Amino acid sequence: MATRCTWTRPLSLTRCCLLLLVLGGPGFFQSHAVEVDVKDLSNTTCIYAKWMMSFLIKYETNSSEYKNATLVPSSNVTHDGSICGNKTHAPLLAIQFGAGHSWSINFTKTNETYQGNVISFTYNTNDTVFKDAKTKGLINIVVNDPMRPVQLNTVYKCRHLESIEVANVSQFFWDVTMQVFVQNGTVSKNDSICDADKSTVAPTIVPTVANLTTAPVTTASSPQPTTIPKPVEKPFIGNYSLKDGNKTCLLATMGLQLNVSQEKPVLININPNTTHVTGSCGNTSAILRLNDSNRRFIDFTFAVKSTSANTPRFYLKEVNITLIKLINGSEPLNAGNNNLSAWDTFLGSSYMCQKEQTLVVTEDLQVHTFDLRIQPFRVEDNKYSKAEDCSPDVDNFIVPIVVGAALGGLVALVLMAYFVGHKKHRNAGYEQF
Ligand SMILES: *[C@@H]1O[C@H](CO)[C@@H](O)[C@H](O)[C@H]1NC(C)=O
Ligand SMILES: *[C@@H]1O[C@H](CO)[C@@H](O)[C@H](O)[C@H]1NC(C)=O
Ligand SMILES: *[C@@H]1O[C@H](CO)[C@@H](O)[C@H](O)[C@H]1NC(C)=O
Ligand SMILES: *[C@@H]1O[C@H](CO)[C@@H](O)[C@H](O)[C@H]1NC(C)=O
Ligand SMILES: *[C@@H]1O[C@H](CO)[C@@H](O)[C@H](O)[C@H]1NC(C)=O
Ligand SMILES: *[C@@H]1O[C@H](CO)[C@@H](O)[C@H](O)[C@H]1NC(C)=O
Ligand SMILES: *[C@@H]1O[C@H](CO)[C@@H](O)[C@H](O)[C@H]1NC(C)=O
Ligand SMILES: *[C@@H]1O[C@H](CO)[C@@H](O)[C@H](O)[C@H]1NC(C)=O
Ligand SMILES: *[C@@H]1O[C@H](CO)[C@@H](O)[C@H](O)[C@H]1NC(C)=O
Ligand SMILES: *[C@@H]1O[C@H](CO)[C@@H](O)[C@H](O)[C@H]1NC(C)=O
Repeated sequence: MATRCTWTRPLSLTRCCLLLLVLGGPGFFQSHAVEVDVKDLSNTTCIYAKWMMSFLIKYETNSSEYKNATLVPSSNVTHDGSICGNKTHAPLLAIQFGAGHSWSINFTKTNETYQGNVISFTYNTNDTVFKDAKTKGLINIVVNDPMRPVQLNTVYKCRHLESIEVANVSQFFWDVTMQVFVQNGTVSKNDSICDADKSTVAPTIVPTVANLTTAPVTTASSPQPTTIPKPVEKPFIGNYSLKDGNKTCLLATMGLQLNVSQEKPVLININPNTTHVTGSCGNTSAILRLNDSNRRFIDFTFAVKSTSANTPRFYLKEVNITLIKLINGSEPLNAGNNNLSAWDTFLGSSYMCQKEQTLVVTEDLQVHTFDLRIQPFRVEDNKYSKAEDCSPDVDNFIVPIVVGAALGGLVALVLMAYFVGHKKHRNAGYEQF
């Protein structure tokens, strides 16, 4: 295979290959698809890719605080250094954008499959989005691409949002169409749909297998909703679970509604039918990550604590929310609260709350839960254990009554025993038992 790329269309970019920046997307959403067609010396396509991406970067400011910055490849995108590859060099897809940022991925193949290998991302904190950054300069992160092998001569397609988080940088990808090792210069007509797009039917996520047990949606390629719905009704209740091997290790049932306050509060219901579950289980910490088809990530982190009475309890410690497609969203929103102590109950039990509850993430972001039942630890036989109910009736009212009734019953029993005993004694001579 030849090693240099050639121009195929007149574009005012500086070197080889063709890159189209497509500004588009429905409604208010500012979507920037990156499209790259890498060709070899004989004008034959070897890599074709079109995808959406954004980066969320945590950086330290000159006042020693941490802030988040968002980068979206949307201006001055070039693709210098992309190569088709040969026996000694792997194919490489490389782009440069904005004020000195760059991103690349190289690929490997076997006889049957190809897959991404190493992703390298370099961002430049001299960019004005980092204007108050403590340190200025280029920061590079390198991460292995978690993408699974794709059958050769098929086009990998994934509408679902995938994220990679490493070293204070979250990389988000969605609406990916890509073929590497294109044969005979013609992009294949056969697709390989990613598991996530299929997963509402057959979930297969590694390493912690997650599992959505709500009713499946029928098609993997139903069109993206193009507008943010305006739900005011109660959200649908979803059953979510995580598996560790064959064993269910986390169970959650809930309806979820986000209250995002921009100029005015907007309520967003999460549709469990199109929500994807990942996360991790552990003995003292567990994470449930819900990823809905509208690029919304909701992470729940659970922890275990020992009380003074030495009876361990679990609770919801942290909620993180990332909304890539915001209402009018040009900028993704990322917010978290790691100082919660909600849904607190005994380890080994499940926590239940039928009534609506509100988790305050930030001033501008709340999560409402409905018909909640959750068990992040010690799930036995794929079933919820006994539930502790959140109802204040149980805590403050029923318990004293129950205790009172039990005590009352005891007193009555003692009295009865006394009188019966006395009666028996008095009648002992007359009755034969
Ligand atoms: C393979 O590709 C690399 C990078 O484009 C190039 O430097 C090298 O000379 C090529 N090797 C052969 C044998 O074509
Ligand atoms: C490659 O194809 C484009 C049009 O598709 C043509 O303009 C160009 O001259 C070709 N280049 C070579 C080296 O064949
Ligand atoms: C931090 O950087 C900003 C932007 O350059 C500047 O306006 C501000 O004065 C700096 N603050 C400190 C404490 O240096
Ligand atoms: C990530 O942020 C933390 C502070 O939260 C900082 O201590 C650390 O150096 C950063 N890591 C990298 C790789 O930038
Ligand atoms: C590419 O061309 C070769 C030779 O013409 C042919 O054998 C092969 O089947 C083609 N591959 C595809 C995917 O069309
Ligand atoms: C969730 O699971 C429970 C128990 O299996 C079942 O009764 C309920 O109908 C399920 N809810 C949904 C929305 O699938
Ligand atoms: C949504 O959040 C805003 C701001 O915190 C609050 O004023 C409003 O009452 C909330 N709406 C609902 C339905 O909870
Ligand atoms: C989810 O799927 C079920 C069963 O297919 C359907 O009854 C329900 O309306 C769906 N919910 C939403 C929000 O689409
Ligand atoms: C939540 O966000 C914080 C800060 O951005 C981060 O340190 C933490 O790892 C996140 N937690 C999860 C579960 O993603
Ligand atoms: C979105 O933008 C339009 C026009 O700028 C504005 O009228 C509308 O209130 C905005 N919606 C939200 C939810 O911020």
